Amino acid sequence: MFDLGTVQSVVERSIGGSPRGVRSVFIPISEKWAIKLFGNTGSCNAVMKNHRACLNAGMAPEMGEMFMLPEPINGDGRGYTCGYFVEIVETCPNLDGNGADYLRTHGEEELEKARAEVEAWRSELYPLIRDLVDEICEKTGWYFDDAHVYNWGKKNGKFIPIDFD
Ligand SMILES: Nc1ncnc2c1ncn2[C@@H]1O[C@H](COP(=O)(O)OP(=O)(O)O)[C@@H](O)[C@H]1O
Ligand SMILES: [Mg+2]
Repeated sequence: MFDLGTVQSVVERSIGGSPRGVRSVFIPISEKWAIKLFGNTGSCNAVMKNHRACLNAGMAPEMGEMFMLPEPINGDGRGYTCGYFVEIVETCPNLDGNGADYLRTHGEEELEKARAEVEAWRSELYPLIRDLVDEICEKTGWYFDDAHVYNWGKKNGKFIPIDFD
């Protein structure tokens, strides 16, 4: 999909400013594709397994193959060794941690707008969330228990999970 030299240089350039959670970091590499990076192959495989199950149920972004980084890299004190490609889908702005991260790359005025966008997502998503989580569980056996607003995307007008931890 992308050669590993390109992957390595994109990762080295972007690791500082990318959204990250407990396990992974998300780095766009083209208009359509992003990379998800992990510290070890075990957590990458576990996430890919849930992702693939949801994709087979028609409820996930597309996914590409797994790769090992030619040179493992550090970001915010954490090491990353491997990852896989994921389709970039529509999301709301990520204001996790009260928007502190968002303000590293945006202004205060944008933050106000982003807050309103997040609220709009919440009010559309929350009435549907129980049924969606149940539907995913019935179709895949995976219980999406970290189903907060920043872990959902939208594809073809339908909410889908984007965080398969
Ligand atoms: N497929 C995707 N399309 C668009 N944005 C994404 C996608 N996957 C993740 N993101 C963005 O990256 C953030 C962190 O990714 P996520 O998979 O939730 O990992 P973490 O385990 O770090 O929470 C998400 O909240 C979202 O803003
Ligand atoms: Mg997340």
